[in-house]
Amino acid sequence: MKDSACIAFLQWALPQLHMRWPGFRKVYGQVHSRLNHRLRELQLDDLDAYREYLARHTDEWPVLDQMCRITISRFYRDKRVFRMIGEVVLPMLAESTMTRGEDEIRCWSAGCAAGEEAYSLALVWHWFVSAQYPGIELKIIATDTDPHMLQRAQSACYPWSSVKALPEAWRDQSFDRQANEFCLQPRYRDNIFYMQQDIRQIMPEATFHMIFCRNLAFTYFEPPLQHKILADLARHLGPGGVLLIGVHETLPDEGRGFERRFPRLPIFRKSNSEKLNDT
Ligand SMILES: C[S@@+](CC[C@H](N)C(=O)[O-])C[C@H]1O[C@@H](n2cnc3c(N)ncnc32)[C@H](O)[C@@H]1O
Repeated sequence: MKDSACIAFLQWALPQLHMRWPGFRKVYGQVHSRLNHRLRELQLDDLDAYREYLARHTDEWPVLDQMCRITISRFYRDKRVFRMIGEVVLPMLAESTMTRGEDEIRCWSAGCAAGEEAYSLALVWHWFVSAQYPGIELKIIATDTDPHMLQRAQSACYPWSSVKALPEAWRDQSFDRQANEFCLQPRYRDNIFYMQQDIRQIMPEATFHMIFCRNLAFTYFEPPLQHKILADLARHLGPGGVLLIGVHETLPDEGRGFERRFPRLPIFRKSNSEKLNDT
């Protein structure tokens, strides 16, 4: 299948799935190879035949939706963001947790892929912060719609390319080497709970102090769906809660209801004053 045919197909199909082509422009290769595989499986000649197939089989649309998931991730993605979390954001959340007389910080990694983001956060907590706040626990819920990614997250073993951005000491002391893989030691995995959820349908039943929604809704979804997701995320954040998005992403509606916490970093705090609506 030619690139041009794949691009034309995605430009036609994605809006029907409430997704946007510009988000896929640099990473559509993953979808391209899945489409090739699907054409072979269905014994179809090309994407025109697949369009006809979609018209005749409405139950194929959810299959296409699954094929459009981009699952790229890595540990310590956007290093500056994780450093700021360790040096400023987590200590700030820990202080306010103590002031409230509570003992846990609740975080959510939405679209967690194979756990790289949730485990990076657990490592940052361990290496930067936990010793100063021994009475406080960091709890992380990590959700993804893809069961295969969640299985990989539970096994917590990764190739070098996934862990290479981590500080060397963390890699040496927090992972065990098994053949060519780096397996995160169980003590860093204790407070992380994985759930299979499609963020468009359902979110965890909890209020969080910090939510990561990076390289998912605000890259791949169409603006009206982004708007709805942002309103839903705001409802899942407590007062002054922190929202993190990807470094190449922007919030819809000019981030109404959120304040950028640091110049040039995609870290926001929920404003206490403004109410969001999802109409
Ligand atoms: C590009 S990865 C980003 C991973 C991580 N957040 C990061 O920034 O490195 C996007 C992840 O979102 C998941 N995903 C895609 N659509 C989703 C949906 N509707 N609900 C929940 N997860 C979804 C994919 O399976 C994938 O693992």
